[in-house]
Amino acid sequence: MKGLLLAGGHGTRLRPLTFTGNKHMIPVANQPILFYGLRHLAEAGIRDVAIVLGPIREGIQERIGDGGAFGLRVTYIEQGPPRGLADAVRCAREFLAEDPFVMYLGDNLLQQGVRPFRELYERDRPDAVVGATRVADPRRYGVVELDGNRILSLEEKPAVPRSPFALIGVYLFSPSIHPIIERLTPSRRGELEITEAIWNLHRAGHRIDVQRVEGWWKDTGLPEDLLEANERVLQSMPPGQFERQGTVAPGAAVTGSVGIGADTKVAAGCSLEGPIVTGRGVAIAGGARIGPFSALGDGVAVVGAAIERSIVLEGARIEGPIRLRDSIVGRSVTIRAGPGAPRDLSLVVGDAARIEL
Ligand code: TTP
Repeated sequence: MKGLLLAGGHGTRLRPLTFTGNKHMIPVANQPILFYGLRHLAEAGIRDVAIVLGPIREGIQERIGDGGAFGLRVTYIEQGPPRGLADAVRCAREFLAEDPFVMYLGDNLLQQGVRPFRELYERDRPDAVVGATRVADPRRYGVVELDGNRILSLEEKPAVPRSPFALIGVYLFSPSIHPIIERLTPSRRGELEITEAIWNLHRAGHRIDVQRVEGWWKDTGLPEDLLEANERVLQSMPPGQFERQGTVAPGAAVTGSVGIGADTKVAAGCSLEGPIVTGRGVAIAGGARIGPFSALGDGVAVVGAAIERSIVLEGARIEGPIRLRDSIVGRSVTIRAGPGAPRDLSLVVGDAARIEL
């Protein structure tokens, strides 16, 4: 069994803001989103994984290399411009050879991982396994209409959905998908659609099983999705994964699960309420309060401010008497609040911005 991890696509942006590099490398609980997919593939006993790259790929090869740190053998496949998920499979044809494979969309996070997909495949030998879960607004997704575990219909982003079940971004295919993809033509949006390939596979009499996804699932296309993913990951991290390094001064209050990176300093009079992770070399001072579900990247400084349910990327500095909630603060951003600044703010700020309040 092989793995195909997609990190191409339009993948440049976290709508509506521009962050540098590839969106799959934006951290959730201080780990790039793409790492979660790699770990899930490794946990399912998969060793050979190809990562599909699009035009924007900064940081991916540099951080993942040959995949050895994940217990994987990783190779890279150039897709070029995003021509669809089925096109990504076409580009990986040589790598995939005649093996079954798990295709994992790199911007997805799911609690249960992909092992159940492999188990279902090995038990029942269907031609494909698709993951589905009940969602609030199916119009954003590929929608699958089900009768038990049988597919009745499949539609990409329908205006009038026939069911509340969305396809999640994990699929398992046998090599019978390849001739079907060869015969696809671009859809109205100009892409080779995997939903159409799955539907054609079904119509050709092949068996497609549905794996209902238990636990949470997030597709991280929007800032709010990313904050929710951050919250869910922090919430479900076992206490042992919150490593305490760095120094916490006597007189600082630390409660709950709090990960503190090396060379991080928490000054007296500050408070940290978990679950929280902080990176390396973080400075928390001036009576700062870091609330639950926050992730502070390497080199972040928070002086006198309060932060809750937020993601703060490397090198950002937040100073002054404000409370940031539900915020994403880009790399090397400076936010400086004076005495007249509004107390409560929710911000999504791209990299390197300077904000004086
Ligand atoms: P999508 O969410 O379908 O699209 P996108 O990320 O390219 O762009 P946007 O959301 O801004 O419209 O992509 C799902 C995943 O698949 C994502 O991880 C990117 C990846 N992908 C590819 O690798 N190649 C492709 O051709 C496409 C369309 C997506």
